[in-house]
Amino acid sequence: METLTVALGKRAYPIFIGQGVLQRSELLLPYLRQPKVAIVTNTTVAPLCLRRFVDSLSTAGIDVAEIILPDGEQFKNWQTLNTIFDALLKRRCERSTTLIALGGGVVGDMTGFAAACYQRGMPFIQVPTTLLSQVDSSIGGKTAINHPSGKNMIGAFYQPTLVLTDTDVLDTLPDRELRAGLAEVIKYGLIRDLPFLEWLETHIERLLGREPQLLEYAIRRSCENKAEVVVADEHENGERALLNIGHTFGHAIETGMGYGEWLHGEAVAVGTMMAAELSRQLGWISANDVGRVEALFTRAGLPVVGPRMAADRYLELMQHDKKVQGGKMRLVLLKEIAGAVVSDIATPLEITRAIEARSIHA
Ligand code: NAD
Ligand code: GLY
Repeated sequence: METLTVALGKRAYPIFIGQGVLQRSELLLPYLRQPKVAIVTNTTVAPLCLRRFVDSLSTAGIDVAEIILPDGEQFKNWQTLNTIFDALLKRRCERSTTLIALGGGVVGDMTGFAAACYQRGMPFIQVPTTLLSQVDSSIGGKTAINHPSGKNMIGAFYQPTLVLTDTDVLDTLPDRELRAGLAEVIKYGLIRDLPFLEWLETHIERLLGREPQLLEYAIRRSCENKAEVVVADEHENGERALLNIGHTFGHAIETGMGYGEWLHGEAVAVGTMMAAELSRQLGWISANDVGRVEALFTRAGLPVVGPRMAADRYLELMQHDKKVQGGKMRLVLLKEIAGAVVSDIATPLEITRAIEARSIHA
């Protein structure tokens, strides 16, 4: 097992990464304030791994409440969040009961937000079960639900007390979800870690083939990158925004096409291509560099061209991005490969050109 630390002073927390850690309740017990937890999961993940997790906790004398949500990005909303509160109240959960998210980023983001709100804040633990959530969403304390007008519009920064990452659970993850997770893995190389990008360029097919040691390395290196950025800029006043490369375009795709139609990682891959194209138009990176990014996403089985949606609709949806300041859009672009920046210099016309160069025309 590997242990990383998100070094946030008094709120520092470990990330335990390894095979079978889900059944090792002794890792989790020191982080509980009372022998009671509520586990939030969904209808897909529950039959796959809830029982063995609950059994290991029950054997250690922990009282476990189970909260099972419907599965899907379209349920990451106020109504579903409220069912978590209903269940917590019904089971008489207290402020010192720990809320545990067992699932992908949707369950993790919603559970974290519920933990931030319930009785003004209860401890919570992330147990991520998708590649995407293991490398990204379980770390750093961004919690949220969607609004019909925009992704993750309602939420809070609220850190977990522990992240328990069992790489065995990825065995059941569908290939399409594995590929979507790789988009966020590639992101770290592209924005700040050239050696990792080169490593991914060498090993991408073997990652798709799920070679355990390579997958574990990719998860660990991603978590190290994420933890470094979060520690440097927890509340996204600067560097943390770089983690959102491609997300402004990508969130527009997710919202515009209807939540759940495009996977988050797929939308991020296309959005990153749009950001790369815009960076090329601005004279920052070369056509060869754009081709390099495209080649890696393509080899990872990710889309590199967006859906049939008018550029005006993108621009409208992109106005809801959390990086917009004083009505001005700020985008994460590439000054060079592995060198991302936040910039507001692109004009709406330039942004439109980048979108159109990378999408099926409406
Ligand atoms: P997801 O949570 O929808 O999970 C993908 C699918 O895989 C779901 O159907 C899920 O039930 C299923 N699943 C989960 N674990 C499984 C397993 N072990 N075996 C088989 N199936 C399994 O999607 P995701 O890609 O994990 O997360 C995407 C969400 O994360 C988006 O809402 C995005 O906005 C959010 N996100 C948040 C952050 C953050 O910093 N908080 C970062 C990136 C993404
Ligand atoms: N996924 C972007 C962030 O955590 O900041």
